[in-house]
This record gives sequence, structure tokens and C-alpha cells, in this order.
Amino acid sequence: MYEIRVIGDSILRKKTTNIRKFDDNLHRVVNNMIDTMHIEDGIGLAAPQIGLNKSILVIDISSIDENEKPLAFINPEIIASDGESVYEEGCLSIPNVREEVTRPEEITLKYQDVEGKKHIEEFFGWKSRVLQHEIDHLNGILFVDRISPVKQKLLVAQETIPQQY
Ligand code: CO
Repeated sequence: MYEIRVIGDSILRKKTTNIRKFDDNLHRVVNNMIDTMHIEDGIGLAAPQIGLNKSILVIDISSIDENEKPLAFINPEIIASDGESVYEEGCLSIPNVREEVTRPEEITLKYQDVEGKKHIEEFFGWKSRVLQHEIDHLNGILFVDRISPVKQKLLVAQETIPQQY
């Protein structure tokens, strides 16, 4: 399992680079990320959160929908979005913070699977929400960037997030 990087760590602010080699090493990283996500009780995990500056994310929302299973998305890119929804979000990299975040309800995602096969797929509901949160990580964005400045200031004042987050 990997150690989770927390807010204040500069790797969480870097834009990731795309994966070009869909080899055994990628499979190993993805499997370890899924194990780490399960051990940490997360429903999603992006590579920067384990200190890896690569465009890889995993999700598992089976705790919300029992028909779901762990999934890996490589080089994901949102190519369209629609609607609006508000959900409370948390993040393994920002312990003890949960805030409501407004995001598009539906997304159309272009991505590759762990074998390198290309997909274009639409997502809505929880899956769309978790994917958008994790894709933000791949672009150096944290969910607290998307809450109101007043709430951000409060979290800094409470020392729940660092001054220079
Ligand atoms: Co997160």
C-alpha cells in the first residue's frame, strides 16, 4: 500500500502527464492504488495522492451501489458536461473536511483502460461526481478550491487546512 499525500504537499498541485506504456508496471500501480483506496476507506484515489505525477485514477463506489466494482481510468479527459448538482465531498488528502461542492451532473469522458483501449462514455450520479473530483486531482485542483472563499478562510482559521494550501 502507498502513503497518502496530504494538503500542503506540492505534488497535489502539479498537472499530471499522460501514460503511454500500458505495461505490467501500470497494472501493478493500479492494483496497489485500488488496495490503498480500500485500506483507507476511500471511494476514489488519484495518482498524485500517492506521490505519482501520472494521469491515473481509480474509483470504487460499491459501498454506495453494490452492483459497482473497482475501476481504473487512464488519461481521462472530460469532453462534455451538462446540468448541475450539489454533493458533500471529502478527500483522503484533506482529513476531517467535508463540504458541499457544486459540479456538473453529467459528464462525457474520454479515457483509456488499463490495457490502453480507448473509450468514450457518459457518467451521471455518484460515479460522475467521484470521477470529476479525481480528475481535478490530475490537474492539481483540490475540492476546497471549489468552495466559497468564506468557507476556505474559515478552514484556514481553524487550521483545518494550511495557510498556503
Ligand atoms: Co480527493
